[in-house]
Amino acid sequence: MTRRKLIAGNWKMNGLNAALAEITAIGAGVAALGARAPDVLVCPPFTLISSAARGEVAIGAQDCHIGVSGAHTGDISSVMLKDAGAGSVIVGHSERRADHGEDDALVRAKAEAALAAGLRTIICVGETRAEREAGTAYAVVARQIAGSVPFAAQGTIVIAYEPVWAIGTGLTPTNDDIAAMHGAIRAELARSDAARAAVTQILYGGSVKPGNAREILALADVDGALVGGASLKAADFLGIINACV
Ligand code: 13P
Repeated sequence: MTRRKLIAGNWKMNGLNAALAEITAIGAGVAALGARAPDVLVCPPFTLISSAARGEVAIGAQDCHIGVSGAHTGDISSVMLKDAGAGSVIVGHSERRADHGEDDALVRAKAEAALAAGLRTIICVGETRAEREAGTAYAVVARQIAGSVPFAAQGTIVIAYEPVWAIGTGLTPTNDDIAAMHGAIRAELARSDAARAAVTQILYGGSVKPGNAREILALADVDGALVGGASLKAADFLGIINACV
């Protein structure tokens, strides 16, 4: 089973209009790779989506509300994201789970709304350091998969495995640990739908850099990367994209 690699950038709360030049440069670098290029996605803050979507790079968002419209001050719906030019959305990032108290049920409702709007939906899971040290990483991730993934919904679901302790720290799990967790995630998905599990892209996220991307992207069941800090500069992000070639 060959799954196309997906390299996705999550800009988090970074990026003013001047940063659109980085997305343009990413597009130029990807174009230079021609047919060898992996799928590439940049998820800038909401404020840059419609401008960024006028360029050549596929654009996504970092969160959405569960509804379509209504009295929810400050929130953005998946339908609005689609209308602004986004084709994808990240839901359930650990920073949203931690900063906004998002639980699996809410993440699942967000994923359902995003899929209903026709957005490719990247659902994030991952254990904390305490959970890893307690030996419960697999149980935690399996519970997040079971609770956060809307198995019955149509559309394209991508899973991002992001151990919380690896995000922004420069730390990564061992290659064996990454491969083992990705295999476990695919097995968990297969419990609901084996055919879908076989084609679902599972991304690794957490301190992916140009220097470690090639070995991580070569691991079994790793179908791409969700990149934070190293996606903000075109040169770094292109270094990771080039590691797929
Ligand atoms: P870093 O690549 O900065 O560790 O962030 C990973 C992440 O959270 C992507 O969603």
